Amino acid sequence: MFQSQTYEGPIQEQYDLLSRQLDALLDGESNQTANLSNASALLNQFLKDVNWVGFYIWKDGGLVLGPFQGLPACVRIAYGKGVCGTAVKDKRTMRVDDVHQFPGHIACDAASNSEIVIPLIRNGELLGVLDIDSPLKNRFSEDDEKGLEQFVQVLLKHV
Ligand code: SME
Repeated sequence: MFQSQTYEGPIQEQYDLLSRQLDALLDGESNQTANLSNASALLNQFLKDVNWVGFYIWKDGGLVLGPFQGLPACVRIAYGKGVCGTAVKDKRTMRVDDVHQFPGHIACDAASNSEIVIPLIRNGELLGVLDIDSPLKNRFSEDDEKGLEQFVQVLLKHV
């Protein structure tokens, strides 16, 4: 049974603990759907002030909705479109303080005000993106970006 944890102390230490938890949670399982599902659930209970946490999977030249926590979302996102498609095109993390200022932002949940998208790239191969939305503007700091990129590196060992 999964034991939920209290996260406290400096943010980087919290993310270190989260990454260790993820590693332990996914250990011994290689099914992508199962592992992305548990990764989204773990993030959802760790992160405060988020309304959507999940994955889009790279398939046949576009992104298709994967495991997530939150409201039903748009199923397909084209290369270069929205925050997710831009993260794929530019192959880098997109941290958007105010989605309403981002040209072409795709609104899946009207409550979202800021967003972070991290591409999942292993040995140069794009697998998809991690996408997190918050109802708060400026929700995601540079520390969050580093911690989430570390989380993605651990995840990539298991998918
Ligand atoms: N806002 C994203 C679309 C996905 S939803 O946030 C879940 C984007 O602009 O790519």
